[in-house]
Parts: sequence; structure tokens; C-alpha cells
Amino acid sequence: VETQLASNHARSVRDLSRERARAPFTTGQTVTDPLTRVQYGMQEEGGRPAIWISNGQVRVTQKLDFEFGSGKHAYGYLAMLDRSSWLDTRLNYYSLLHAWDFTSGQDVAAAHLRTQPLGRPLPEGEAARCFLCHSTVVRASGVGKAPLDGSQLRVRPQRSDLGVTCESCHGPRAAHVRERRAGLPVSHPPRLSADAMNEVCGKCHGFTGTNPSHPVIARFQPYGLSQSRCFRASAGRLSCVSCHDPHANARSDTAFYEAKCISCHPGPKEAREPKEADGAAVRTVCPVNRVRGCIGCHMRIDSKTMLHMTFADHNIRVLPRAQQQPGFRTEALSPRE
Ligand code: HEC
Ligand code: HEC
Ligand code: HEC
Ligand code: HEC
Ligand code: HEC
Ligand code: HEC
Repeated sequence: VETQLASNHARSVRDLSRERARAPFTTGQTVTDPLTRVQYGMQEEGGRPAIWISNGQVRVTQKLDFEFGSGKHAYGYLAMLDRSSWLDTRLNYYSLLHAWDFTSGQDVAAAHLRTQPLGRPLPEGEAARCFLCHSTVVRASGVGKAPLDGSQLRVRPQRSDLGVTCESCHGPRAAHVRERRAGLPVSHPPRLSADAMNEVCGKCHGFTGTNPSHPVIARFQPYGLSQSRCFRASAGRLSCVSCHDPHANARSDTAFYEAKCISCHPGPKEAREPKEADGAAVRTVCPVNRVRGCIGCHMRIDSKTMLHMTFADHNIRVLPRAQQQPGFRTEALSPRE
């Protein structure tokens, strides 16, 4: 429980009326729109984070309501403009860059900027989607009565359980609490098969319905992994938990992941001293390097499609030469504050 609650999952959204923002709001840095020369910045206003915009004559500020992200890659912001319209602000803070810059996707000209230069307007239903993937339970009023387009739906983030915690993955566990209170033996969460895990994690990380030509395909790990020969030919022995503790942050030491590869694709040492219990029935070994460098050569590191963010492509495969990065270290992916 302690590990999970301290993980980036559990810290992926904050209510700024109750909690302090994690990004630095007092840097004084400005970002200029190359087309209109309009300037943007972030500041504290009466102890509350706000975004501002100025064309030299007029300056407008808007206070921010929710901060998204643990900061592993970025911090992003939603402002509630009135009861049914939200704003996805045009600035994000990027950890790799150590600076504010345009929100990925909002770095180009867009029609809405003429009427709403502070960011991308979000109808209630779309703002609800941000909370759904970044929270455990999202409460809303109007559920059941709302028309299909969701126009009467009101998200109640203040009454929701923000951050990704136990029930996001384990489902409703009220029975577990009842058993504990009644002094009965408690039931453990059921074990998940590799396919079921892709479904569970894929609710938020992208699995079914993922468009393979989506520009940020490397962001969708469950989809990527499910396409890989390693997954398809290993009869359920490879899943997210083979390489990640689901209750903790992703490790950033390359050697840790390489050891996982080698547990199935034996290096020269493992081939000489096969272990009884490792179950690695795979004989396929690398003709190029059987000891190290696996991640950089077989998991593409996508740093181009989302602004100032990197993603390890989970479709493990033989990559075209131009995409191989033999000297790559995963440490470079994971800025630590
Ligand atoms: C309810 C949505 C949701 C579900 C379900 C979910 N995740 Fe996540 N996951 C997120 C979000 C949001 C983040 C980004 C957190 C952040 O850094 O702000 C994340 C981040 C991560 C990270 C990066 C952590 C780090 O080091 O910063 C890993 C690894 C991860 N998830 C694995 C999994 C696995 C494995 C599963 C399934 C067992 C899973 N997730 C299920 C939403 C979800
Ligand atoms: C389909 C689910 C989904 C939706 C909808 C969604 N997110 Fe996310 N978001 C994620 C996941 C999963 C990650 C982690 C990505 C990773 O590390 O691979 C993430 C990461 C982020 C991050 C970066 C966190 C970090 O430091 O790694 C920010 C900021 C963010 N989301 C903001 C938003 C905002 C704002 C919205 C709504 C406009 C939104 N998200 C909608 C699932 C979602
Ligand atoms: C990101 C998804 C995710 C979150 C959030 C999460 N878990 Fe898990 N948990 C898993 C997965 C996946 C497993 C491994 C299940 C398996 O191997 O089939 C697991 C395993 C467990 C187990 C061990 C089950 C066993 O039989 O060994 C317990 C207990 C558990 N989780 C409790 C919790 C608690 C308590 C929380 C909240 C503090 C939590 N989990 C949050 C995904 C998650
Ligand atoms: C659970 C075992 C397992 C793990 C862990 C594993 N693989 Fe595999 N991998 C396989 C199997 C099975 C195949 C298919 C072998 C075959 O067809 O002979 C495969 C195939 C491959 C291929 C050939 C892909 C293709 O399209 O032909 C590459 C490259 C590869 N693995 C690299 C890796 C790397 C790098 C890692 C670590 C990031 C890794 N594997 C982790 C089981 C695994
Ligand atoms: C064969 C090992 C392996 C498996 C299996 C695996 N991952 Fe990863 N994952 C990695 C590596 C390597 C990284 C990059 C770590 C770093 O940041 O240094 C990573 C990073 C991530 C991140 C952080 C985003 C990024 O690219 O930095 C998320 C989210 C994630 N994995 C989710 C998943 C999910 C969900 C599954 C199951 C569908 C999964 N992973 C299965 C090796 C694996
Ligand atoms: C310098 C880049 C590089 C590094 C480092 C590297 N590989 Fe490879 N690997 C390749 C290339 C290129 C191929 C395809 C070779 C061919 O088809 O002739 C390949 C092929 C493979 C195959 C498929 C072999 C087959 O017979 O189909 C596996 C499995 C594999 N590598 C695993 C690994 C593992 C595990 C590691 C780390 C211990 C690793 N590789 C390190 C470049 C690399």
C-alpha cells in the first residue's frame, strides 16, 4: 500500500484548491507564439497557480483548477471556465526540458486559438475522460439522465477519488473490506493472465481500438506488447508484470530490463549453465549481441512524436538499422527530480 500510494500512478492528478502544484510556477519564463508573437506564462496569483497571456497591451490571466501528471514526463492543467466548459491550457511543464512550453499538439496554429487563445476548450465529456484515466473513481451528476452526448453530465472531481490506486486495476473490492472486518480470511485479487492484463492496463494505456497508424503508437504499451513475437510466441509467460512491479514506478536501470530479456533469450553464460526453474524454453539468441544493449536495439525510443517526451516502444522486434540505438541507456528516459 505504501509503495503504491507513493507511486506516480497515485499522484497523477491534483486538485489545486486543496493541494500545492508540483511544477515551478515562479520561474518568470515566457513562451512566445511564433505566429502571433503573443506571450504566455505561468504565475502564482493569490497563492493559486494561473496561466497568463499578453499581446503587449492586454494581459489576461486564468486560474488553474487541476494539475495532471506526476511530472515523470510532464505536468498539464485543466481550468474549469464555467459549469460545463473546461480549458486544457496551452502550456505544460516538461521534466526533460526543465521548462514550460506548448502542450503537445497545441504547438501549432488552430482555429480555436482565435476565440480561446489560452488553450484547447474541452466540453464536459472530454474533461471527464482526462479524470477517468487519471483517477480511481470519478463521480458525476446527471448519470443515467444525461442524453447520449453527455451534455447534461457534470463531473464532480472534488467528490472523486483522484489518482490511480487499488480499484483502478483490481476492480471493486468492497467484499474484501467486509471479509476483513468480519474477521474472515480475505480473498486475494484474482491472478490475471497476460491477455487479461493487457485489457486491464489497456483501459488507460491503450489496447483495443488502438489505431496502428496513430502518430504516438509507442505510447500504447499494451497494444505494442501484444504485437510483439515475444508476447505472441511465449504462451502467456510475458506480461506487464514480467518487467514492472504494478505497484511501483518503472525501473530506470538498463541492466534490470536486459536481465529480463536474457531470462528468455539466453546469453553465453546462461546457455552454458541452464537454470532448472527459469522456464525459458526460448532458444532464439541474438546474432549481434547476447550480453547487453537489448533495449536500445529492440525497443524503439520514440522521442519525436510528443513534444519533449520519450516513450519506449513495447513492440519488441528487430528494428530497421536507422532506429537502433545500441548505446542507449533507459536512465536517459526517466528524469528524476
Ligand atoms: C486508471 C488508468 C490506469 C490503469 C488501469 C493503469 N494505468 Fe499505468 N498509468 C496511468 C497514468 C495516468 C499514468 C501516468 C502517471 C503519471 O506519471 O502521472 C500511468 C503510468 C504508468 C507507468 C509509469 C510509471 C512511472 O515510472 O512513472 C507504468 C510502468 C504503468 N503505468 C504501468 C501500468 C500497468 C502495468 C498497468 C496494469 C497492471 C497499469 N499501468 C494500469 C493510468 C493507468
Ligand atoms: C485513455 C486514457 C487517458 C486520457 C483520456 C488522458 N490521459 Fe493523460 N495519461 C494517460 C496515461 C496512461 C499516461 C502515462 C503515459 C505513459 O507514461 O506512457 C498519461 C500521461 C499524462 C501526462 C504526463 C504525466 C507524466 O509525467 O508522465 C499528463 C500531463 C496528462 N496525461 C494529462 C492529461 C490531460 C490534461 C488529459 C485530458 C485532456 C488526459 N491526460 C487524458 C492516460 C490518459
Ligand atoms: C496499476 C494497476 C494496479 C494498482 C493501481 C494496484 N494493483 Fe495490486 N496488483 C496488480 C497486478 C497486475 C497484480 C499481480 C496480479 C497477478 O500477478 O496476476 C497485483 C497484485 C496484488 C496483490 C497480490 C495478489 C497475490 O495473490 O499475490 C495484492 C495483495 C494487491 N495487488 C493489492 C493492491 C493494493 C492494496 C493496491 C492499492 C494500494 C493495489 N494492489 C494497486 C495491479 C495493480
Ligand atoms: C517470456 C520470454 C521472453 C522475454 C522476457 C523476451 N522475449 Fe523476445 N521472444 C520470445 C519468444 C518466445 C520469441 C519468438 C522466438 C521464436 O520464434 O523462435 C521472441 C522473439 C524475439 C525477437 C525476434 C522478433 C521477431 O519479430 O522475429 C527479438 C528481437 C526479441 N525476442 C528480443 C527480446 C528483447 C530485446 C527482450 C527484452 C526487452 C525480450 N525479447 C524478452 C520470448 C521472450
Ligand atoms: C520486456 C520488458 C517490458 C515489458 C514486458 C513491459 N515493459 Fe513497460 N517498459 C519497459 C522499459 C525498458 C521501459 C523504459 C524504462 C525507463 O523509463 O527507463 C518501460 C516503460 C514503461 C512505461 C513508462 C513510459 C516510458 O516509455 O517511459 C509505461 C507506462 C510502461 N512501460 C507500461 C507497460 C505496460 C502497460 C506493460 C504491459 C502491457 C509493459 N510496460 C510491459 C519494459 C517492459
Ligand atoms: C547493436 C544492436 C543490437 C543489440 C545490442 C542487440 N541486438 Fe538482438 N538483434 C539485432 C539485429 C540487427 C538482429 C537481426 C539479426 C539478423 O536477422 O541477422 C537481432 C536479432 C535478435 C533476435 C532474433 C534472433 C533470431 O534468430 O530471430 C533476438 C531474440 C535478439 N536479437 C535478442 C537480443 C537480446 C536479448 C539482446 C540483449 C542481450 C540483443 N538482442 C542485443 C541487433 C541487436
